[in-house]
Parts: sequence; structure tokens; C-alpha cells
Amino acid sequence: MKVLVVGGGGREHALAWKLSQSPEVTDLYCAPGNPGIRQVAEPVDIAADEIPRLADFASDLGIDLTVVGPELPLTLGLVDEFAHRGLIAFGPRRDAARLEGSKVFAKSFMKRHGIPTAESRVVHDREAARSAVAEMGYPVVLKADGLAAGKGVLIVDGEDAMEQALAVFFDERRFGTSGDQVIVEEFLEGEELSFIALSDGEHLLPMATSKDYKRIGDGDVGPNTGGMGAHSPSGIIGPEDGAGIVESVLWPVVHGLADEGSPFVGFLYAGLILTDSGPKVLEFNVRLGDPEAQPLLMRLEDDLAPLLLGGACGRFPTERLRFRRAAAAGVVLASRGYPGTPVQGEPIEGLDRAGDHEGVEVFHSGTRSIDGRVVAWGGRVLTVCATGQDLRSALRSAYQAAGDIDWPSKVFRGDIGRRVLET
Ligand code: AMP
Ligand code: GLY
Repeated sequence: MKVLVVGGGGREHALAWKLSQSPEVTDLYCAPGNPGIRQVAEPVDIAADEIPRLADFASDLGIDLTVVGPELPLTLGLVDEFAHRGLIAFGPRRDAARLEGSKVFAKSFMKRHGIPTAESRVVHDREAARSAVAEMGYPVVLKADGLAAGKGVLIVDGEDAMEQALAVFFDERRFGTSGDQVIVEEFLEGEELSFIALSDGEHLLPMATSKDYKRIGDGDVGPNTGGMGAHSPSGIIGPEDGAGIVESVLWPVVHGLADEGSPFVGFLYAGLILTDSGPKVLEFNVRLGDPEAQPLLMRLEDDLAPLLLGGACGRFPTERLRFRRAAAAGVVLASRGYPGTPVQGEPIEGLDRAGDHEGVEVFHSGTRSIDGRVVAWGGRVLTVCATGQDLRSALRSAYQAAGDIDWPSKVFRGDIGRRVLET
């Protein structure tokens, strides 16, 4: 089987790493890839959102399966274009990808299908935003409708913060057209949790539980990022709660989208918050989480290639996924400045030493190869992952290996998993 992975971050490195272990995969490509991915897949110099060029490449090389990592090509209609050309890609079509591409769509979809989520209003101007807040009371959460790389969410706890947030959305227009519609949402409290499943349009295969850590700083302080670390299992919910989430959140998505004529094929990610009145959805993503994918794929026992090929063709070859008992954890190493403008171009030391540890994999996110050296080119630069017999030992190994890697502007959270282990 010839397989193309689209994307070039840590999630795609983990996808390519896992696919490279499949006895069915004869040729593996990644567009655009990165220096880490190059160790397991042949790089293709096409950006993840250049859909016609990707389709030309897949067609010319006779690619049997394309696996799409990031959301942008999905919301731009990669799967639709591939289908149009008779090419097979695992991921949702544009209509179904609106679940992530438009928070307004996702909110109204959840309302239509009784999926638990925060109360909210859609507003288009300051006046309407103010009257929504008058009804709800502070704190509220303001969210840009469209894709904003995890940065389009502002938590507003009073008049001053509201003034600033309104200026960001309606004067500065920081989120461009993504901020044309704004959601004003009730603020929810509780532990956050990701829950990811695969769907072939009709069936659901839940993955093991996982948790990511979105804030930049230890103790969950500072701005949101794409995720500074993750582990599986989540350490927060057991199998019964997991089954409850599958029943109350994931199945209604699969049935609801199928009923509305846009069946969901792909990785379905629910970002949840566990409130006193039960789990509620904060957001949907139509792809694997990054960095959740890295530990999850290290635990997955099944061969990913036939699984995704079957799914893309409308029928998974299995009824449930198998995960190793071992836990897995990943610590993101970023460059100072992230999630703003990071320092770039510093050579990374110790990659080989870190990767030599038993049960450790170093997945590359923002790296480049310059003059034969791997340099930090992040944002998020690497996810250092390890398996272990339990979360504690997986985390210990991941941190140990992370300590072997260095560059001058390396920053990371030192407390991934700590709170889960303490409770
Ligand atoms: P989202 O992109 O909608 O998942 O939001 C990003 C982050 O903002 C979440 O991971 C939460 O930490 C926070 N957040 C979003 N919506 C809410 C809410 N209604 N209540 C509390 N925190 C929220
Ligand atoms: N780790 C969060 C995300 O992938 O959206």
C-alpha cells in the first residue's frame, strides 16, 4: 500500500511513525514533513493546504491512501477534491469539517442534537455582545467563529476585560473574517479532557482516554497554546465515564451528521470539561489532537494502515481498537516566545541520546534541517514521548529523555501529569 501523510508537525510524525510499522505499507510519503518525519517517510515538497498539487501527486504516484493530519486542508475541502478525482483520503469532507471550522455551526449542531455544551449566543457587533453578557453575567468566554489556531478564545471576567475583548474582535479584527461572528458563551468550571474516536461515517471506534495541557506555564497559568504535553490514559476518568461520553457526545455527532447528509469520516476529537452537571463540549476538532496523538499512537496496537483505509472506504475492518496496557506520556519542548513569536534557528543538541532510551520516541514539530544540523524552528519544537508501566513511570522516562535535549531557548512545562498523579 502506498500512503501519503499530509502535514508536518508532531502529530503527523506520530502518524507516519505508526504507519511505517505496518507490514502493508510499501511506500510512505509525507507532505511537507519535517526532519524527524524524514527518518520514516519520504518528504514531499508540497504544503498541507496546496490541495490541487497534493491531488496531482497522489494521482501521479498511485497513492492508495492519504491521511490528513491538520484541520486546514480538511476545512478547505481536500477530501472532497480527492474523492472527485477517485482518490482515497481518511478525513471528513468540507461539510462535516465545519464542526471545527465554524464554532457557530458546531454550537447550533449541538443544540439541534441535544449534545451537552455551554449556553451561548451568536453576536455580530458590540451591542449584541453587551446584551448577551447582561443576560449571562460575568465571567463569559468570547470565541471567534472560524479557525484561529487555538488563539481565538478570550475569557472575560469584568467590564475592563470586556472592553479589551470587544476591541480585539470588532476594532482590531485580530481574527480577520474568522471573527465576523463571535460566540458569547457561559464560563464553565471543571477539569478538561480530550476524547478522540475514529468514524467511518457510520461506526465509531473510541481511542483510549487522553489529556493535554493547554496553558504555557506550570500550574496551568499564562496563555493558551496548542498543547504543552499530553498523556494516555487521562488519569481522570474511568471506562464507565468514557462510555458515557461516547454515548452522550460522540454517537450523536456521528448520527446527527449522517442524518444531515454529511457523514463524518475521520478522527473526531471532543474537547470536554467535566462540570458538576456532567461533561460538556468546549469544542470539536475534526482531526487527532496534537500532542495527544503522540502518546495515543504509541499505545495503539492495531495496524493503522488497513484501519484507516477501511474507514475511508466506509467500513472499518474491526469493531474495537486495542491499546497497550502501558501508559504513554509526551512533554512538549518549545522555544522561548511561544505562543507568541518564538526564537528560531538554534541548533538542537542531544536528539540521538534522548531517542536511545528504552521506550522513548522524540517526535518533531517545529524543526528544520540547516547545513546538516537540526535546528529549532518552533513554536512547539519537539514532543518527547515515553511509555511506561503506569503514568508515573511514563512521565518520569519522558522527562528524563527531555533533559538530554537542549538548545538555548528551550522551554517546557515541568508539571505535565503532576496533578493527575496527586489526585
Ligand atoms: P476552545 O478552542 O473552544 O476549546 O477553547 C480553548 C480553551 O479555552 C479551552 O481549552 C478552555 O481552557 C477555555 N474555554 C473555552 N470555552 C470555555 C468555557 N465555556 N468555559 C471555560 N473555559 C473555556
Ligand atoms: N491539543 C489540542 C489540539 O490539538 O487541538
